[in-house]
Amino acid sequence: TRVLFAASEVYPFAKSGGLADVAYSLPRALNETYDVDVIMPLYQFIDREVFCIEAVGETFDIMMGERAYPITLYICKYKNMTYRFVYTPMLCDRAFLYGPSQGGYADNDIRFALFNYAILEILKREPYVFVHLNDWQTALLPLLLENEPEIKTKSLFTIHNLAYQGIFEKKALARLGIDEKYFHMDCLEFYGQVNFMKAGIAYADRVTTVSPTYAKEILTPEFGCGLEGFLQYHSAKLIGIVNGIDTEQFSPSSDKILVSPYKDLRGKEANKSAFLKEIKMKEPQRPLMIFIGRFTWQKGLEILIDALPEMALMECNIVVLGDGEAKYHDALEVLAKKHDNIYLESGYNEALSHRMYAASDFFLMPSLFEPCGLAQMIAMHYGSMPIVRSVGGLADTVHDHAVFDRKSQKGYGIVFEKADHHALLSAVTNALELYGTKTQYNLIVKHNMLCDFSWRESGEMYIKEYKKLKEEGYRG
Ligand code: GLC
Repeated sequence: TRVLFAASEVYPFAKSGGLADVAYSLPRALNETYDVDVIMPLYQFIDREVFCIEAVGETFDIMMGERAYPITLYICKYKNMTYRFVYTPMLCDRAFLYGPSQGGYADNDIRFALFNYAILEILKREPYVFVHLNDWQTALLPLLLENEPEIKTKSLFTIHNLAYQGIFEKKALARLGIDEKYFHMDCLEFYGQVNFMKAGIAYADRVTTVSPTYAKEILTPEFGCGLEGFLQYHSAKLIGIVNGIDTEQFSPSSDKILVSPYKDLRGKEANKSAFLKEIKMKEPQRPLMIFIGRFTWQKGLEILIDALPEMALMECNIVVLGDGEAKYHDALEVLAKKHDNIYLESGYNEALSHRMYAASDFFLMPSLFEPCGLAQMIAMHYGSMPIVRSVGGLADTVHDHAVFDRKSQKGYGIVFEKADHHALLSAVTNALELYGTKTQYNLIVKHNMLCDFSWRESGEMYIKEYKKLKEEGYRG
């Protein structure tokens, strides 16, 4: 059974966030049962030589609106999987995936519609049984399939983040070649504009999101981003399946990026001292708290920035790694200049992030909303205790240390409820107290390191959904 898994970013080819990690690791987990190919745009910054990416077949035109766009398909093998690529200058010849940090490119509707039309072209020629779509950049495909009764492929659409819906002016319809008949509130129309995400929700055979708690949250005004009513209407086909992490890519005992790979808690020490030496942190014996993530509102940057001046007065060191909105970056820079025990490293640095997971004692994640979150699971796996807000996938994967049960298979950390810096500060105070007791802290962290955060269970759940889709018979 062949599956085509489509995403606008896939690690290691292109990454802006967790979607790329899931688009790397989930297809690998599914590939044990199905024959999975991954497809993504061939952005110009992807190194074709390094990955041995080669063109297949002739360049062909796709007609969209009044214009013809030349499309070339490419392919490569990477770690035993097949990756397919769509190349067209309009979509791919850009400096950024979606646009500079101030906002998306104005023609992202054309760019990603082309990606969808190219996938449609492939489905016309090749008998994929399922197409697995991810986020708004691939959400038009179920609508396009509505007009192709010959294609029997079933679609599953996964929402990684409802906050990004792909919203464009109404006039986009014409240049995307989409019939006006789809411009109504049960489909593409959203307050007079075109909403890609809505097409995926309306027409996909199954809609999933990346944790059970987020699946419930998005049915409410607080998290629904204006689509709560629409999602309620479609809730019979909506389910939440928690993400996993790739335990080969993230394995402290075989991680070549680390100074000293380790199997147990004691093994972290060498990594911690090497890292703190490298960044010239004073008083390296203190507990180390880290933040790794995009500098956006979602990730609780405001809470973090408000809490940092007081955290700096506590007995701990704090290291922040990430990239994003300038206002957050500037505020963090000021704090790092002012306090010896706050260190900021800006940019996206995969290798450094591994060394930080290994070096740290606590991992800060004060997100305002979090569809799933992967970092908290990586942190637990590397023996760093997460300090999280009880929201979305964080609530599903991190349980409060107060209810620690060594016989369970769950991960534990410090969990707080309210979205403000007071709540974070009291969580940090609790964390430092727990760290001071050593025995309980060690017990929990050791337990976390042995928990299974792989795709084993969640992969099975996706396969169960695929199987149900097949049983439900073909569309139309
Ligand atoms: C998005 C979400 C994040 C999730 C990731 C992968 O980045 O913000 O919570 O873990 O997608 O599904």
